[in-house]
Amino acid sequence: MTQSLSTPALDPRTLRDAFGAFPSGVVAVAASVKGQLTGIAASSFTSVSIDPPLVSFSIATTSSTWPLLREADHLGISVLADHHDAVCRQLAGPREERFAGLPFHVTGNGSVLLDEAVATYDCSVHQEVVAGDHLIVLLEVHEVGGGDGEHPLVFHRSGFAKLHRDDLDPARLDGRINGADVDSSADQARATDKQEDAA
Ligand SMILES: Cc1cc2nc3c(=O)[nH]c(=O)nc-3n(C[C@H](O)[C@H](O)[C@H](O)COP(=O)(O)O)c2cc1C
Repeated sequence: MTQSLSTPALDPRTLRDAFGAFPSGVVAVAASVKGQLTGIAASSFTSVSIDPPLVSFSIATTSSTWPLLREADHLGISVLADHHDAVCRQLAGPREERFAGLPFHVTGNGSVLLDEAVATYDCSVHQEVVAGDHLIVLLEVHEVGGGDGEHPLVFHRSGFAKLHRDDLDPARLDGRINGADVDSSADQARATDKQEDAA
């Protein structure tokens, strides 16, 4: 039997713990809005669509920053690197201190991008969808770039972690992610393995 959405069986703590079991990266969503540096840290970022190019993140309806940030023509998304744990906390802290001392640059169209990010995206708001106590913000991607950072910060069970590179071995993936070849060399490696097995 399925529970209806209004059944009060799930207490928020249990739900938070369950959501926290799913690891994610963390991004900075930031822009210069009317000359004011504005941004937050968000772990709800995800890729959505290749054509058109879309990404999304979720923002609490109680956010005091989103009403300002959504006014920006362009928003910068910076994927935080594994040495950015303090940066992440700063970007989630008091608004007036979020960019203090951070190495970042403002692009010609107002996106704010962190210099040491693992990757950057120049975006504009495509659509906002109300989803319970959050808004799902769909962003159109106009440009992507690589930052100076190499390895991403991982957020898991309310704490920060780092990736083990072994986990990214494409040969262990099933060949395809989001409908695209992950790495054709993985297929070649598998074919070689099969040939060796057969021999
Ligand atoms: C690791 C981490 C991830 C976060 N992810 C989100 C998120 O996905 N969505 C969100 O609304 N807030 C998220 N926050 C909280 C925001 O960064 C920020 O603190 C919050 O929006 C409150 O500030 P505001 O009132 O200025 O918006 C996250 C905070 C941390 C530390």
